[in-house]
Amino acid sequence: MKNVTRRAFTAGAGAAVAAALTARKGFPFASAGQKLEIQLANEIGTVRPELHGQFAEHLGSCVYGGLWVGRNSPIPNINGYRKDAVEYLKALSIPVLRWPGGCFADDYHWRDGIGPAGKRPRSVNSHWGNYVEDNSFGTHEFVGLCRMIGAEPYLAGNVGSGSPRELRDWVEYCNYAGDSSLANERAANGSKEPFGVKYWGVGNENWGCGGQMSGEEYAEHYRRFATYLRTWNEPRPFLIACGPNRNDAAWTRGFFEGLRRRGPINGFAMHFYSNGTTQATRFTAAQMEQQLSSFAQMERAILEQRQLMNTWDPQGAIGLLVDEWGVWDRMDPAEEKRYGRLFQQITMRDAVAAAMGLNVFQRQADKVIMANIAQMVNVLHSLLLTDGDKCVRTTTYYTYELMKPHRGKKAVKVETGDAWPLGLSVSASKGTQELVVTFANPKPDSGVSVNCALAGGSAAGATARVIHHPDLNACNGFSQPDAVTPKGIEVSAQGSSLRLELPPLSVVTTVVRLA
Ligand code: AHR
Repeated sequence: MKNVTRRAFTAGAGAAVAAALTARKGFPFASAGQKLEIQLANEIGTVRPELHGQFAEHLGSCVYGGLWVGRNSPIPNINGYRKDAVEYLKALSIPVLRWPGGCFADDYHWRDGIGPAGKRPRSVNSHWGNYVEDNSFGTHEFVGLCRMIGAEPYLAGNVGSGSPRELRDWVEYCNYAGDSSLANERAANGSKEPFGVKYWGVGNENWGCGGQMSGEEYAEHYRRFATYLRTWNEPRPFLIACGPNRNDAAWTRGFFEGLRRRGPINGFAMHFYSNGTTQATRFTAAQMEQQLSSFAQMERAILEQRQLMNTWDPQGAIGLLVDEWGVWDRMDPAEEKRYGRLFQQITMRDAVAAAMGLNVFQRQADKVIMANIAQMVNVLHSLLLTDGDKCVRTTTYYTYELMKPHRGKKAVKVETGDAWPLGLSVSASKGTQELVVTFANPKPDSGVSVNCALAGGSAAGATARVIHHPDLNACNGFSQPDAVTPKGIEVSAQGSSLRLELPPLSVVTTVVRLA
């Protein structure tokens, strides 16, 4: 369901879809016409940069190999951080990064990851393949990475196998500026300055790998844990409770009933994955359609969950996060063996999926305050894939790059008049001098000839970039790292009219200069 009103279009915008497919002059594909209205005065909320957030877990080769290779690695590195990955991520300006899990978070004990690396314990990563975790990437290394790439750190705490004391101590260790033993220990480990971590997750998927609890049971734990996660210094900890798996209303009801309006809570984090029925580079158009239709379900889940949250939080003070989302295909056993758990190729389909997800969050910008795609490198819907000393930017990376101009702008309503789950996906945002619009066309066999009416604004020109490949399974492989990259595309923007031709299966962002 789109965040548009279902009323008939205003006279100027006309009817929704001109059904006939026509091959247009100069375009090698057939197009269906679609009329839209972008309502510049109809503001939704700010597109917080955090909607473009990321997630990195100790899983497969996300952290080890993907982000951290160690100081003695032959792979070019900056004090152990993988140089090419850092450069690519920095160029994208990652707004926020969630770590260390995932399921790993509820089996992680932060003390294992501080102090001299050689003396850190060797623990077993019981969730992700029982490999031995040497803890060489711990809190200091994570915060160091965030600083290098400009990201706000988001720490996911251990509720499932941890204690309130362990988590409150982690907050003090990271954030206390005074003369406490924990703050002094942090200084001895190399950081006199507090880390100033703002975002704190109180557990992860506590309905599953984080303790198999019911919403009511988790609420009891949450109340205890949250009580001790104090403000030692600015920033005040922003506490994020575990939310539902997809649209699980029973979890949300159980949690908020159990919370009984006690205990500080700032955010409630849903997880929503889009499962695929085959391996990443083997999708048929029908399998892709099935997967991409999950984004309409995700939007419905957000709408229904926010309505439920209003029952206990009528002022809407608690933000909704989607701190894990993305495509999750069938793994190729040979690739998993070589690259680690949950490694999948990223194709043209994934670029469209990423844009459809980001469009949903931007259309719900008055409630969704953060969204973290899973995961940043080498796992699931990733931005980067690495193989030894090779590192490629995936099509997901390029979707984030295309959509970067939305950050910080005001999301505005778009009337598409199309309720079909696989209709054109659109979001728009405006700044003082610019309107940014992203279109994702999920149809593999038809372009879209877009005719937008700008209500409440006037255009004085525009530029546009597209990511498109005729093969839905095309990807930036290690031998063809630039097979699918963005290009410029024609756009016409004058007065109240914005027109452009979207190729089949494509993502286009246009930046319109406002007169
Ligand atoms: O992202 C992979 C896993 O998916 C995470 O560890 C978990 O939180 C979720 O089930």
